[in-house]
Amino acid sequence: MQNIAIFGAYSAIAEATARQLAGSGERFFLVGRDRGKLDQVAADLQVRGAQEVHVFACDLAVPAEVLASIDALYGALGTVDVVLLAHGTLPDQKVCEADAGQTVAALEINALSHISLLTLLAARFEQQGNGTIVVITSVAGDRGRKSNYVYGTAKRALSTFLDGLRHRLAATQVRVIDIRPGFVDTPMTADFKKGALWAAPDKVGADIVRAIEKGRPIVYTPWFWRYIMLIIRNVPAFVFHKTNL
Ligand SMILES: NC(=O)c1ccc[n+]([C@@H]2O[C@H](COP(=O)([O-])OP(=O)(O)OC[C@H]3O[C@@H](n4cnc5c(N)ncnc54)[C@H](OP(=O)(O)O)[C@@H]3O)[C@@H](O)[C@H]2O)c1
Repeated sequence: MQNIAIFGAYSAIAEATARQLAGSGERFFLVGRDRGKLDQVAADLQVRGAQEVHVFACDLAVPAEVLASIDALYGALGTVDVVLLAHGTLPDQKVCEADAGQTVAALEINALSHISLLTLLAARFEQQGNGTIVVITSVAGDRGRKSNYVYGTAKRALSTFLDGLRHRLAATQVRVIDIRPGFVDTPMTADFKKGALWAAPDKVGADIVRAIEKGRPIVYTPWFWRYIMLIIRNVPAFVFHKTNL
């Protein structure tokens, strides 16, 4: 039986992951903006074998609500074995280029809210001495590209923060996992044309569950993105700058 907290709990990827984690009396704590959607996920997890599901509705872009969510989490579960941070937005790159306020807002929800949560959670996990912290970043953080570098900046900041956290907690039994998906067919990418490189949320969820079981530090999902990003990171700038990536 595990105590599991999920932030952004009705994101398509988080929901697919939670469904695969449920089944042997887990205690869940679900965080998201919409109470009705949280209740739907909670009911589904209970049918799948969760023992208890608590929900907490809040806006994670608001720092005071981030603090309140952590207090509520520990008030409800006492200890946490696994935490998954899955909330986020895909900002419009062109809008951000024309509006510094939108750029800052995108960084706040896609990086600073996670960094606040992780700062609060890390202290608790460090004291506990064990557990697993999982954060969904993105392959977009591996190299800045003109099509989405504001989003990529947020994800790269998170990956660097996770590197540092992993180093800090290396002497404990706390695992820090950075999940880097490629293209996933979810509401976030509803307007995109889909192709051969696209994955379903269930596939990414299965990779997240496996990463938790094995304690792997950095997971590209599906696996082939590790090699695609290896190539993209190593394309020389004089070639890269001629592409439209
Ligand atoms: N889909 C992809 O191709 C892809 C690729 C790489 C990484 N990712 C990452 O995977 C994670 C999950 O995304 P997804 O693809 O599953 O998309 P999704 O279904 O659109 O989920 C995003 C979630 O974030 C929540 N959220 C946004 N702003 C919030 C706020 N201020 N407070 C609380 N919750 C907020 C949304 O809730 P509301 O509906 O209430 O706004 C939504 O539930 C994200 O971190 C995303 O960046 C996705």
